[in-house]
Amino acid sequence: MVRAQRLLAAVDLSRTYMLGSEEVHALREINLNIFPGQFVAVVGRSGSGKTTLLNIMAGLDRPSGGHVLFEERDLANMSEDELTELRRHRIGFVFQSFGLLPLLSAMENVELPLRISGVGTREREERTREALEIVGLWDRAKHRPYELSGGEQQRVAIARAIVIRPSVILADEPTGELDSNNAHSIFGLFKDMVIKQGISVVAATHDSTLLSMADEVKEIRDGRLLERAEIGQRFRD
Ligand SMILES: Nc1ncnc2c1ncn2[C@@H]1O[C@H](COP(=O)(O)OP(=O)(O)OP(=O)(O)O)[C@@H](O)[C@H]1O
Ligand SMILES: [Mg+2]
Repeated sequence: MVRAQRLLAAVDLSRTYMLGSEEVHALREINLNIFPGQFVAVVGRSGSGKTTLLNIMAGLDRPSGGHVLFEERDLANMSEDELTELRRHRIGFVFQSFGLLPLLSAMENVELPLRISGVGTREREERTREALEIVGLWDRAKHRPYELSGGEQQRVAIARAIVIRPSVILADEPTGELDSNNAHSIFGLFKDMVIKQGISVVAATHDSTLLSMADEVKEIRDGRLLERAEIGQRFRD
């Protein structure tokens, strides 16, 4: 079987923070490949380096060593404008705390990235509706975040991430504030998007009950990546 070309890769990635005069090695020589249409869960205890890894892979933070490649292009060689383009069109990000604007309706929150990119009204409306339908919340489009449950707010945040039609979604503890039912349904949604739309998803989580839904599980411990058994069959060589 020919393996698809990787979409996103971490190559010997390291990140060291200075805490006073002390070095904190948040990531140590991480190597990770994300393929198109693959759902990867990243697990690890608090402080293991999950957020640092996702932020660097999204180009929100820079590594101390090593490289992040998006379609084989090193993010370090991209200008700020190119990185902005990447985040506006190719990489969607979902945060633990949803990050919705409280005064905007669900629809307006989802539409915002398209407004920022200058997408015209008609296309904006179509794509916003499509994204809200995918997450099952079109009937709540007019509601503001405070009128939605935590799980629903996270769905809106996911709709906002997919409305740009990204190639990959990076989700940092997207279920951290949700109960177990909602957590499972968010991971179910990711799984569906991966299968139906061919998006790749990388989701960090503490919750081991969610892992069977991913194609592959990677564990970070003290900034190092350990490989676990692959769960899905779809990405075996
Ligand atoms: N800006 C920073 N300055 C100094 N140290 C930092 C900074 N950000 C993270 N760290 C340290 O880097 C390590 C990894 O942190 P990170 O936030 O990536 O972990 P995490 O796996 O996401 O944890 P959690 O599950 O609690 O979200 C920790 O030791 C943390 O204290
Ligand atoms: Mg974190």
